Amino acid sequence: MTVTIVGSQLGDEGKGGVVDIFGDAVDVVARYQGGDNAGHTVVHEGEEYKLSLVPSGAVRGKTGVLGNGCVVNPSTLFEEIDALQERGLDPDVRVARRAHVIFPYHRVLDGIEEEAKSEDGEEVGTTGRGIGPTYEDKAGRRGIRVGDLVSEDVLREKLEYVVPQKRALAEDVFGVETGEAFDIDALHEEYREYAERLREEEMLVDAGEFLAERLEAGEEVMFEGAQGTLIDIDHGNYPYVTSSNPTAGGASTGTGLGPGVVGGDDGEIVGIVKAYLTRVGSGPLPTELAGVEGDTPDYTPGEGREEELATYIRDEGGEYGTVTGRPRRVGWLDLAMLRHSTRANGFTGVVINHLDVLAGLDEVKIGRAYELDGEELDTIPATTERWAACEPVFETFDGWEAFDSEVVAEEGYEALPAEAKAYVEYVEDELGVPAYALGVGPGREETVVRTNPFE
Ligand code: IMP
Repeated sequence: MTVTIVGSQLGDEGKGGVVDIFGDAVDVVARYQGGDNAGHTVVHEGEEYKLSLVPSGAVRGKTGVLGNGCVVNPSTLFEEIDALQERGLDPDVRVARRAHVIFPYHRVLDGIEEEAKSEDGEEVGTTGRGIGPTYEDKAGRRGIRVGDLVSEDVLREKLEYVVPQKRALAEDVFGVETGEAFDIDALHEEYREYAERLREEEMLVDAGEFLAERLEAGEEVMFEGAQGTLIDIDHGNYPYVTSSNPTAGGASTGTGLGPGVVGGDDGEIVGIVKAYLTRVGSGPLPTELAGVEGDTPDYTPGEGREEELATYIRDEGGEYGTVTGRPRRVGWLDLAMLRHSTRANGFTGVVINHLDVLAGLDEVKIGRAYELDGEELDTIPATTERWAACEPVFETFDGWEAFDSEVVAEEGYEALPAEAKAYVEYVEDELGVPAYALGVGPGREETVVRTNPFE
């Protein structure tokens, strides 16, 4: 069977930990979108590993696949593999020949466009990894795929077509001088070497074929989504989105397996929910507690909107970007967002993480709905402008005392404080989806598992 792990909010919901928890039975973990903009921390045998591209399952001896829907920066890929090898691991990573390649000029252009947009406060707040420009080239039918790297002639021909366009864009449109990142010979040499290594280490696969064979052989496959539903290019709050589909449909198009494999009788789709909200980068956040100065166009510094509480939650939850180190904006859980997410992904279950971070507060809020133009909305409006105009309608809950997460994890759901259970059950009822597991502490073992979707 397959289990797809999807971020139900804005990314950083703790997907890596869930991949770990449900992953014991798993043979193959495949990513289906995104690139080295993702950041996941995996703790294995007491060691902490920070990865941005390699699927987190690869740390635990699973086969990791980067599907065709991914964008691959080979320099990051090999840095991560080398670092894992230096620490005594032998990760088995396969890369789809149909995945698109991130080149240095994509990163430079990502920065140039953000800079240009920032003049009017319109920047997306990207991770600067060249993700958007690479997907742009894919959609513009001028991208270079991983499979193209292995033929020196094909690679040169494609670079000769695309690089002069990129140089002209940087120099003539944006007035920025270009350097080695736009030098065809240098790029050809560097990427030819990556291709040699990909080939020598037998990493290249046709992802759909490879995964279908493994499923056929009776193996268990997990699809590991990166980012989250609200930064999905179709279902997120455009334009403050990443350029791929983190939603469950992406697991089909981004691997080459049919939608029935992802969401049929043998497929579970698990939404990962953080018990509060965080957001890196720009865009609306109606239940926000306070903005990080400069990060949100409509935030007025010094307004004092629950700043202290936001800082407390940010610090308790370690809410600083894995890739960029940026402080994350913080808000209360937003059900209008989660209803949208549950529908767009077809969740069969959810995991609610970080219940421990909220422990010790007198009261905890959940955004039950929005108010907009005198009406109550129970889901997110389609335009970002209307979403930004939404006022949250809150439901207030009694807070719960700090608890010993190891004890709760061992004794199970019933050992959770009653107030925390009331919070969880309210979310389950509103979404009509069961909570398969609850994160009650930062460690893998600090999880209350009620249902393992593989069993
Ligand atoms: P990009 O993916 O680098 O193009 O960034 C586009 C938007 O997605 C920005 O708002 C980023 O902050 C956000 N983003 C990208 N990757 C992640 C992630 O792994 N977690 C949370 N936000 C992310």
